[in-house]
Amino acid sequence: MKKIVSIFSLSLLFLVTGCSNDRQNNSTGTSSSSQTSNSVESTQEVPDSSHGENETETSHIAIIYYSLTGTTEAVAQEIQAQTNGDLFALQTVEAYPENYSAVADLVQQQQDDGEFPELQPLEVDLSAYETIFIGSPIWFGSSSLPLQQWLMQNDLSGKTVYPFFTSGSSGIASAMTEIENLISPQTLVPGLGINDETIDETPQLVASWLAEN
Ligand SMILES: Cc1cc2nc3c(=O)[nH]c(=O)nc-3n(C[C@H](O)[C@H](O)[C@H](O)COP(=O)(O)O)c2cc1C
Repeated sequence: MKKIVSIFSLSLLFLVTGCSNDRQNNSTGTSSSSQTSNSVESTQEVPDSSHGENETETSHIAIIYYSLTGTTEAVAQEIQAQTNGDLFALQTVEAYPENYSAVADLVQQQQDDGEFPELQPLEVDLSAYETIFIGSPIWFGSSSLPLQQWLMQNDLSGKTVYPFFTSGSSGIASAMTEIENLISPQTLVPGLGINDETIDETPQLVASWLAEN
């Protein structure tokens, strides 16, 4: 990951320099530069020295997450910004209720009954990705049922998997044990947990996690 991040950092530096030149040459500024930055998200070609000098390739990183209220999504977006990975949001066929106690009751009942929500099809070709980030809120100490469902339906063998979680305050040890029991990737990187107390430090926490792994 260190290598990927540094390649991406170089690309980002080049891009920032390019954007800054664009801004100098473009008096209308904002809309043009925001289009530029949007186009980078999943289609930017980054040089990869391991595949020869003249070859370029798109991202080999997928960030697949479930988020009910947006917190895990924000962390996923930060990971996307730091890795240039492709983002994929899991969605259930039947939306969970918005009211917390209604969601809590339903999730509790699903957990007790061993039920998992049906997922909307996710358009992702996993064979194109060597590295998969998987993200989820913590629900009653576990990873969310939609993420568990997706993990049961997909084969991540041969991949390097980076799990990340958000919670109010709970740790991620139980969720990691569950993930270990659900999937058999080539490498399972120690997970990243972000909670209400550390959410403001997300960029730094993501950066250190990527640097260490
Ligand atoms: C059904 C349910 C169960 C939850 N259980 C826990 C828990 O056990 N521990 C905890 O710290 N937070 C718990 N939370 C809070 C969420 O983990 C936290 O708000 C998370 O950041 C939400 O992520 P999201 O916005 O991506 O859905 C729970 C939330 C819900 C809806």
